[in-house]
Amino acid sequence: MATEKTFYLETFGCQMNAHDSEKVIGTLQQQGYRQVESEEEAGLILYNTCSIRDKAEQKVFHRLNDYKRLHKQGKRFGVLGCVAQQEGEKIFEKAPYVSMVSGSASYRRLPEMLDRLEAGESRITGLNDRQTEETFETEFTARQNLHRGYITIIEGCDKFCSYCVVPYTRGKERSRGSSSVLAEARRIADQGYTEIQLLGQNVNSYRDPEGKSSFAELLAAVGQIEGIRRVRFTTSHPRDFTRDIVEAMDAVPTLCDHVHLPVQSGSTQVLKRMAREYTREWYLERISWIKAARRSISLSTDIIVGFPGETEEDFIQTMDLLAEVQYDCVFGFKYSARPNTPALVMIDSIPEQEKAHRLQVLLDRQREIQRVNYSRQIGEKIEVMVEGMNPARGQIAGRSSQNKPVNFTTKLPIAPAPGSYLQVKITGAFPNSLVGEAI
Ligand code: 5AD
Ligand code: SF4
Repeated sequence: MATEKTFYLETFGCQMNAHDSEKVIGTLQQQGYRQVESEEEAGLILYNTCSIRDKAEQKVFHRLNDYKRLHKQGKRFGVLGCVAQQEGEKIFEKAPYVSMVSGSASYRRLPEMLDRLEAGESRITGLNDRQTEETFETEFTARQNLHRGYITIIEGCDKFCSYCVVPYTRGKERSRGSSSVLAEARRIADQGYTEIQLLGQNVNSYRDPEGKSSFAELLAAVGQIEGIRRVRFTTSHPRDFTRDIVEAMDAVPTLCDHVHLPVQSGSTQVLKRMAREYTREWYLERISWIKAARRSISLSTDIIVGFPGETEEDFIQTMDLLAEVQYDCVFGFKYSARPNTPALVMIDSIPEQEKAHRLQVLLDRQREIQRVNYSRQIGEKIEVMVEGMNPARGQIAGRSSQNKPVNFTTKLPIAPAPGSYLQVKITGAFPNSLVGEAI
């Protein structure tokens, strides 16, 4: 009797990783595997890992350790993603029951790696070096969200910010041809998707290998596909944030009213040591372009506090920048030293306690900014895409074009279906969400 091939996959980390997992799942299904909900039920246990900050990889090793007893039952383990690429064959030493280790730049070879796994091999690696030109394009993406379709347009990173592992874990920057991107966008629009999110570590560093379109042109073209109502893109790098992106947003109404533009620090001195290749003024100029757009564009950012050598004065400049930009969302992180990165040799001079303190000060201030920003929207009528129910409150949960969570009630006898669009009148606000009533 042939035994059924089953797998369990857990994903850590960013949106890119989440979407990679959709492609990995599709590839496994194509190879005859069925996805199951727990490690216990699975023949093959996969972790798609992240290594952006130190706790991320610790989590993976803990998880591997927690489940190693299952190896005795004949289950196989595979480590995918950024920790896999970073630690490479060392994973086999740390966790000898792991049979497969593959970074994202080698996923194209997954079918072959799976064949070898099934043939009983135990130290299978997909560890392409930074020079690989391989991209992972597949028609077998197992999309987990029925309304928002993710599309990778650029993989890897060539920016080498001094704190960041990504250039080492995801390989060099390589863009996908615009015809292939547009074909995938049209295909999923035909399947009923109304929202598309274009993905890349530096999505706006996109360079069409076919030479047909700039990033802004591609964005506009995706936004003009029939059936598409919302287009998002993440993550943008200030270095490559050009004015034509804002012009495209002005011209194409389906491009969402939101830009995520990580600043990392408000101090030009710190930015320099981070190798971000822009100054505070350069960044703020891009913000002024976005603020001058015809629609009100919501801004969000990432900030690292406690980078080596960050003085109190540097930190105050970051706080001033928050006040000046008025973001609607800030992801704040304490600096953590990462393997292979240039910042590793800088003296990590800020005590952990001080990093934690700065982060708290930053997040508290930002919460106040958001409290004011969000409450300004009371009384507005906005379009919301329904995502699901919030049964505890009897509310419907959705998201605005600006990417803000909106919880609302409706007088309709039946709850609106996920994926539908409704006009909602905003009646209340919290620092992280809006409340309203469907009209
Ligand atoms: N330490 C802390 N935060 C980091 N990030 C990236 N690398 C590090 C690091 N070594 C943050 C940056 C980035 C986000 C995804 O994670 O703010 O934009
Ligand atoms: Fe984590 Fe960065 Fe890899 Fe995403 S690209 S999974 S954030 S290390």
